Amino acid sequence: MELLKERILKDGILLSGGVLRVDNFINHQIDAVLMMDIAKEFVARFAGREITKVVTVEASGIAPAIFVGYLLKVPVLFAKKNRPNTMDNSISTSVYSFTKSDSNEITMCGDYLTKEDKILFIDDFLANGNTALGVLKLAEFQKAEVAGMGFIIEKGFQDGASKLKELGVDVVSLAKIKSLGNCEIIFE
Ligand code: G4P
Repeated sequence: MELLKERILKDGILLSGGVLRVDNFINHQIDAVLMMDIAKEFVARFAGREITKVVTVEASGIAPAIFVGYLLKVPVLFAKKNRPNTMDNSISTSVYSFTKSDSNEITMCGDYLTKEDKILFIDDFLANGNTALGVLKLAEFQKAEVAGMGFIIEKGFQDGASKLKELGVDVVSLAKIKSLGNCEIIFE
């Protein structure tokens, strides 16, 4: 997706440790027009899958997931990082966060993810794949089918995509980054 790559080059900021900051347009301040274009691209790339639900994890996945859910006219379900006391029939799994160097439980209500569901998982980054693997686990608990997983940015030099593909997951990443070394963003 050329528009997205151009924007990453224009507004992305490289931090140490192979971290790309995109909080000017994706995960803090959001460019809603670009986000709708991103969602249209996901919808085109996952066309014909009979998706019943878009699934993501708070916080940064929610914006793209909502646009995709709007276009597909299906509900958007996000896993929470804090389990509300009021949640019944909750399902949880532990996920390690690369940027925060810490583990989180992700939780959702089992009533909203069932064996009747065919889900599309959407998130901003695919790095080590921990978030996506956590969601796969929740889908497995509930016997829901995973139709595919879409990421705005894939860091190809980390092993998330290969882990998911080994598990047979259909992965779509709109901007694949080959390297973030030498103060330069290189796409695949
Ligand atoms: P994953 O994203 O593939 O699960 O791998 P990893 O465990 O490496 O990343 C965990 C968290 O770090 C995720 O956010 C992910 O979006 C974020 N992340 C990974 N690499 C980058 C990067 O280069 N830049 C930015 N901005 N984020 C990165 P999270 O903990 O779920 O937080 P949230 O932002 O969704 O709240």
